[in-house]
Amino acid sequence: MKTLNRLRRSLIATTIAVGALTLPYVALAQAPIVIKFSHVVAEQTPKGQGALKFKELVEKKFPGRVQVQVFPSSQLFGDAKELEALLLGDVQFIAPSLSKFDRYTKKIAVFDLPFLFDNIEAVDRFQSGPQGQALLSSMTDRGLIGLGYWHNGMKQLSTNKDKLTRPDDVKGLKFRIQASDVLEAQFRALNSNPQKMAFAEVYQALQTGVVDGQENTWSNIYSQKFHEVQKTITETNHGVIDYMVVTNVKWWNSLPADIRAGLTEAMTQATAHSNKLALDINTADRKKIADAGRAKIQTLTKEDQAAWRKAMDPVWKKFEANIGRDLIEGALKSNK
Ligand code: LMR
Repeated sequence: MKTLNRLRRSLIATTIAVGALTLPYVALAQAPIVIKFSHVVAEQTPKGQGALKFKELVEKKFPGRVQVQVFPSSQLFGDAKELEALLLGDVQFIAPSLSKFDRYTKKIAVFDLPFLFDNIEAVDRFQSGPQGQALLSSMTDRGLIGLGYWHNGMKQLSTNKDKLTRPDDVKGLKFRIQASDVLEAQFRALNSNPQKMAFAEVYQALQTGVVDGQENTWSNIYSQKFHEVQKTITETNHGVIDYMVVTNVKWWNSLPADIRAGLTEAMTQATAHSNKLALDINTADRKKIADAGRAKIQTLTKEDQAAWRKAMDPVWKKFEANIGRDLIEGALKSNK
């Protein structure tokens, strides 16, 4: 009996020991690397399409080894939380608009200076050049590394008023802005009241009159239905909304070298895809807004545009020291 018990005990011990050795090994060998990619816009926007392309390319490159889960429309994390979530390791990729890196570096604020870039082609030239590329690694000491820039487009101004042609028309109005001090100064220069607010809250704030207006690209205005709760959209093209796709430095460096190389390659391809779509999506969405006939679309005369430029001009001086004259000049040169 004693021998039988000893035999049984040793059999159980062996089973546990073998299990302990093999199970985690099996689990490790089979578990794919899961990449959560969180963003705040709709899937049909340039960023939404870029994230889906990245998923497609990565999963094709690493079948069963890497899985990309895309969470659009602030489903997982909204503006306020996504950068924190990335640093905590709760998501692996995000692509905030360049205005939202304000807390991490003052340099990227160059993109927020009003009327700095003539068009998205100029923005592209600056981003592809040495200064734009250097900005991708300007936040590594804060735990963030940029893998590329994705375009959305030029910003337009909208309000719940009929008249929106001259800076005086926005005097005293409340505007939703992204979390950027430059944008705050821009609206203060117009004598209006800026309010920092997460993207997901804008529609309701416009609808209920918490704010009177906002600034955004055609694709964001259309996909969020802002044109249904605004009276006038003026084609000001006074600034840009573009993105930096960022990941967590520690997580990135911990990846096997072949995966990192493959993800970099997929990012380059997804970037080309998304950037090629951006202008077309914005042009198409402008037309859809015009066709819907809810908000009136206005364009500016040369004189009107000069008046907006002049009114926003003080913003440049205010932020020049933080951003650096060299960056501002480099960006200006990209206009050619
Ligand atoms: C906004 O908050 O208005 C935009 O930056 C949203 C986005 O990601 O395009």
